[in-house]
Amino acid sequence: MYFGCDYYPEHWPKERWEEDARLMKEARFNVVRLGEFAWVKMEPEEGSFSFNWLDEAIEILGRHEIKTVLGTPTATPPAWLVKKHLEVLRVDENGIRSSFGGRRAYCPNNDIYHQFSKKIVQEMVEHFKNNKNVIGWQIDNEFGGDSSEGLCYCDVCASKFRKWLKKKYRSLDNLNKEWGTIFWSQTYGDWEEIPVPRKLETAHNPSLILDYRRFISDSYISYQELQRKILKDFAPHQFVTHNFMAHFNGIDYYNLAKPLDFVAWDNYPKLHFVEEGKEYYDVSFGHDLIRGLKRKSFWVMEEQSGPSGWQCVDPTPEPGEIRLWTYQAIAHGAEGVLYFRWRTCRYGTEQFWHGILDAWGKVNRRYEEVKQIGKELKKIEETLAEMEFSAEVAILNSYDIQWAFAIQPNNEQFNYRKHFLSYYQIFNRWGINVDAISWQDDFSKYKIIVAPSLFLLQDDFAIKLRDFVKNGGLLVVTFRSSIKNWNNVTFEDPFPAPLRDFLGIEVEEYDSLLPEHEQGREIEIIHPDFKRTTGEGKIWCDIVKCDGAEVVACYSDGYYQGRPSITINKFERGKAIYIGTDPSEEIKENILFWAMREAGVNRPFLNIISNVEVVQQSKGERELIFLLNHSSKEQYIELNKEYVSILEDKEYSQGETIILEPKGVGIISPRTVR
Ligand code: GAL
Ligand code: ZN
Repeated sequence: MYFGCDYYPEHWPKERWEEDARLMKEARFNVVRLGEFAWVKMEPEEGSFSFNWLDEAIEILGRHEIKTVLGTPTATPPAWLVKKHLEVLRVDENGIRSSFGGRRAYCPNNDIYHQFSKKIVQEMVEHFKNNKNVIGWQIDNEFGGDSSEGLCYCDVCASKFRKWLKKKYRSLDNLNKEWGTIFWSQTYGDWEEIPVPRKLETAHNPSLILDYRRFISDSYISYQELQRKILKDFAPHQFVTHNFMAHFNGIDYYNLAKPLDFVAWDNYPKLHFVEEGKEYYDVSFGHDLIRGLKRKSFWVMEEQSGPSGWQCVDPTPEPGEIRLWTYQAIAHGAEGVLYFRWRTCRYGTEQFWHGILDAWGKVNRRYEEVKQIGKELKKIEETLAEMEFSAEVAILNSYDIQWAFAIQPNNEQFNYRKHFLSYYQIFNRWGINVDAISWQDDFSKYKIIVAPSLFLLQDDFAIKLRDFVKNGGLLVVTFRSSIKNWNNVTFEDPFPAPLRDFLGIEVEEYDSLLPEHEQGREIEIIHPDFKRTTGEGKIWCDIVKCDGAEVVACYSDGYYQGRPSITINKFERGKAIYIGTDPSEEIKENILFWAMREAGVNRPFLNIISNVEVVQQSKGERELIFLLNHSSKEQYIELNKEYVSILEDKEYSQGETIILEPKGVGIISPRTVR
């Protein structure tokens, strides 16, 4: 297990470094991340490099048995570089170039920037490749992390976009056909005529915007590759990763993750301005999404360890909360957790983004908590290392679909992420492990796949879904699925076009509800196998015609009263459920509960109570259950068999109650198999 923090020694006098290392060691840290953003300190002038300060910091930490992950500093080019080559900066959708002063302002396609990036990365790796305290690299920082999601609209991007299009469509005729450019007289007679989607008084062709987003995503992937290749060429023995952000949508994370040794991400559970009303399961989902990128364990490269904020300060972690987040990460598959940051910076944009220590650098409540975690982890790390997270339920995620919905949300109230979280959170509440997967993953190991709003579809994707059902899987598909092809053009066949045969339905009409339809449409479950419930369908109402499927629920309201809204179809060895509206939580639960029983998904053998997250890990016969109390109250869980608590070294007999303090954690293992 890797345990540590993000450390910026360059922000503090050298005399303090020794003391920092000593305190870190006392907290049992074994790793730090250094160097990220320190370009100007490593290359103060063009072509002259200075790494002595880093050597010294790494050496001091190394003496305290703390290894280093080095960040390449390319998120923040130095002022001399930008002054000399202003064109490395990004151009926004209004055609205005960015300026020096923030971070992530560079254009991912600029060749001059590529040259400077290569140079600094190469100098770094040549210098540090034989340093036995350096174990790996983090490339850049949070690609896509800015208000424009990494989009650039400069001339370099425009010309590389055209090349990208040529490669994809081969001929202009083909592009014109695929994009439907006959609409509004957009037919292109020359590649040079194709614009980048800068701001218009109306709106661009959705096919063009979608391809542009793919192109920019690919641009960052190539830029990462440019650095990764140098690092691996010179230092194949050191790992290479990048720090992702689970809620970012700018880049196809599945493709970004592919060449990396493992994925890391930055987790700020209390960061409320990014996600209003964020809940603990958003974080669980974040971990599951990140684990799903490579389907293996990951690191949290930055774990919140203090109140955060740039201009305003968010709430402080309550006592126990840093520990809770740490175990939540581990439960979902993290094998490295580093806190952001060691000590709160006294200057610059992030003075309010607190670390473990405050600006004044004294041991405090948060440090004591981190130290307790370090001690516990030492004790249980071997047990943890043996265990694996596995799931029988998966949720399908797609960046292409996210982009298509960003271009056309379909309905003002619809939010793709919220929509699939509304299904995810039900499983999470029931203590069912879930994998968030891409359509390219192997479906065969799952009993249930939930596929929320598969707005875009292509043939091989549709075939995989069909095969999954055919071979006995239980598939749940929701409204606005299979509306368009992969180029963002509407299917000619009735919806849900290539899924109709195994869903056994056709969508005859649909009704997009406005926010004033607050109550939505009444629906009623009428199928005898399901619990009879009534509730509301919101946002969208598909009016479904059954073509072999059985009706699960009907509308009992509006002109489509009596028409099906939810259906189920038996297809070969499996079953496919279609949910043509956004039903109330009770109805979703009702359907998923039935699906779980039907598919034989294992549920944890425990009394589950609200606000206590239950996550299971196992290896062969051995099982570990994480109990995470996300509430600020003490919680009691009655145990229905014999357990051993590995944190407390305590045995519980059947019928005994385990007490979880506010924000407390329990890790228990059934006794019989220990
Ligand atoms: C993260 C980023 C860090 C730091 C932190 C606080 O997203 O990776 O470098 O800036 O946010 O803003
Ligand atoms: Zn550009």
